[in-house]
Amino acid sequence: MSQHKDLFGAVSLGYIVVESRRLERWQVFLKDGLGLHLAASDASSVAFRMDSHARRLVVQHGPAEDVAAIGLQLRDEAALQVVLERLKVRRIAIEDGGEAEAARRGVARFLRVKGPKGLPVELYVDALTGAEPLDMLASGFVTGAGGMGHVAMTTRLPEAARNFWQEIFDARLSDEIVERMAGVTLDIGFLRFNERHHSIALATVRGLKLDPIRARVQHFNLLAASLDDVAQAFRRCKALGFEIAHEIGQHPNDKEVSFYALSPSGFEVELGCNALTVDEAGWRPTSYQGISLWGHRPQNASAFNRLAIDAGNFRRGLLSLLRPEYSPI
Ligand SMILES: [Fe+2]
Repeated sequence: MSQHKDLFGAVSLGYIVVESRRLERWQVFLKDGLGLHLAASDASSVAFRMDSHARRLVVQHGPAEDVAAIGLQLRDEAALQVVLERLKVRRIAIEDGGEAEAARRGVARFLRVKGPKGLPVELYVDALTGAEPLDMLASGFVTGAGGMGHVAMTTRLPEAARNFWQEIFDARLSDEIVERMAGVTLDIGFLRFNERHHSIALATVRGLKLDPIRARVQHFNLLAASLDDVAQAFRRCKALGFEIAHEIGQHPNDKEVSFYALSPSGFEVELGCNALTVDEAGWRPTSYQGISLWGHRPQNASAFNRLAIDAGNFRRGLLSLLRPEYSPI
């Protein structure tokens, strides 16, 4: 019966785990560049806070140079049970994350499933809180009911990926953007779990079953408290030598003002501000032409913009024709 309970508003993006060999550079990027609170650092991982939660970003040592997992926080045990029932009905395997990994993520306990593209999706209810006062270069980050920022993935199976988030978590489609670049058309769908305009974005190359992006996650986003935070982080990232993939600009759908930097792992990280929250009463999904109202100019051609001109991406895209993409449903 509880399978029919609507989980909308009871799910939020809670943490992101990155796997990289470049822990020191990630520490510089997130602490000195984007302005997060460094919570812990040792040879195997670095961890960051942006609010009361003990952990929001964890970079663990390993070869992937990719997002290794995303954590979804459920409002309460009842909401978690609804998710677990839906997973079981679809025969999606659920495993316990174990105490050591839970501690590293700053949560009491968590469960793990294999999500779209094989990205581990981790489910938890209770986040531990950080003991120390925040010591950040940024004035703050927007979290709360909307969770932290969002994650954008490319997919060759957009319907299956969208179904996963909608059927298991009651995600709603906020809107879509059609972006033409480098001779191809990208269709991007934006899904929300709560008042945040999107927690998940799914991009697909129209008409071609290819995936131009090496990493499972094309970018993740953090939402800063103010335009000044974004401007100062932009300046710091440039001064620290991080490549700016897209300079400051504004998206047409959530009106967020943001820039994209290349992370030490090579995928992009977006820092933004002033994103609207969705008013469910009057919201209708629409379709926009173009990913930016203004700005977001590529400093160097990278990621999406490199689609047709980067031989590596093109080859990877062709290889992706031969490689099946994992989908849990
Ligand atoms: Fe984004």
